[in-house]
Amino acid sequence: MPNLSGKVAIVTGAGRGIGRAHALALAAAGAKVVVNDLGSALSGEGADRSPAEQVVEEIRAAGGEAAANGENVADFAGAGRLVQQALDEWGRLDILVNNAGILRDRMLVNMTEEEWDAVIAVHLKGHFAPTRHAAAHWRERAKSGDEVRARVINTSSPSGVFGNIGQANYGAAKAGIAGFTLIAAQELQRYGVTVNCLAPNARTRMTEETFQMGAPPEGFDPLDPANVSAVVVALCADEAQAITGQVLHVWGGAVNVLRGWSAGELLDAPDGWQPDALLHELLARFPDGAAPPGMIAGMQAAGGRSLRTAQ
Ligand SMILES: NC(=O)c1ccc[n+]([C@@H]2O[C@H](COP(=O)([O-])OP(=O)(O)OC[C@H]3O[C@@H](n4cnc5c(N)ncnc54)[C@H](O)[C@@H]3O)[C@@H](O)[C@H]2O)c1
Repeated sequence: MPNLSGKVAIVTGAGRGIGRAHALALAAAGAKVVVNDLGSALSGEGADRSPAEQVVEEIRAAGGEAAANGENVADFAGAGRLVQQALDEWGRLDILVNNAGILRDRMLVNMTEEEWDAVIAVHLKGHFAPTRHAAAHWRERAKSGDEVRARVINTSSPSGVFGNIGQANYGAAKAGIAGFTLIAAQELQRYGVTVNCLAPNARTRMTEETFQMGAPPEGFDPLDPANVSAVVVALCADEAQAITGQVLHVWGGAVNVLRGWSAGELLDAPDGWQPDALLHELLARFPDGAAPPGMIAGMQAAGGRSLRTAQ
């Protein structure tokens, strides 16, 4: 296990599910953890401090150090207070795991403006806001001559990287988070910060209906959220300083370092295309058409597994 003692971490949405597992794993590796959770319903409504406080108690009972935080990560000022809490409690911040999330699934033709806005806010702005405040701290430390080895771990989704029907809001936010990762990784490298991203799969309240798979009575449980946390702890090790801007798909023990947008097919006309010539070339290159294969096919191709078969 990498030794993270002396490091201070924030995990957002850590009162339940995957975030809770990250907080427990980081604390077990020696990090002090700010356990952030608004304590909302799956749809994002309501607030309750008790999930964050329970995880703090679990960490303390196991001999670790932790503090609870109930800010909404989509509130820019609240995200600033979250980062400030880590600095006030322990004088530094080394690791930010952006994990908080909600769901409001709906087919595009029926999706309301509120369903779109709420999901984009919690996921996309909820990644930007804490990262922005943490980055200011790391830049200040780097400029003062400190050798920073900081980490941001973002949370995308198979829905964002492969595209899942019924999740235009969620999948667009999650694809945006993968794009945000690429840019933040390049911008923050100069300050000693790596920025990577997960596309996890785990049994939580978010997925229990989709997966409909309980934990096996014994042996390895591929949908235990702790499988995803092992990737987080590994990426937080000082030795992982040169690994940045990566999106990792995780299903049980299958971890794919994904290749996202790549050069693909080149249609090259040195003097520019006329529409009719381009159309002719497109039809010649794609005689059977070109359409996204969908999330399940993407997950199966990734070497991960899916409980649903490809359509
Ligand atoms: N479970 C999966 O298989 C899966 C798959 C792909 C992506 N994800 C992503 O993993 C992350 C964790 O999901 P989970 O499955 O553990 O779900 P979960 O519902 O169990 O946990 C999410 C937590 O985030 C908190 N939260 C919601 N909005 C918040 C806000 N504005 N500020 C602070 N906290 C907030 C909730 O209170 C909740 O405790 C999410 O980003 C989710 O989209 C999960």
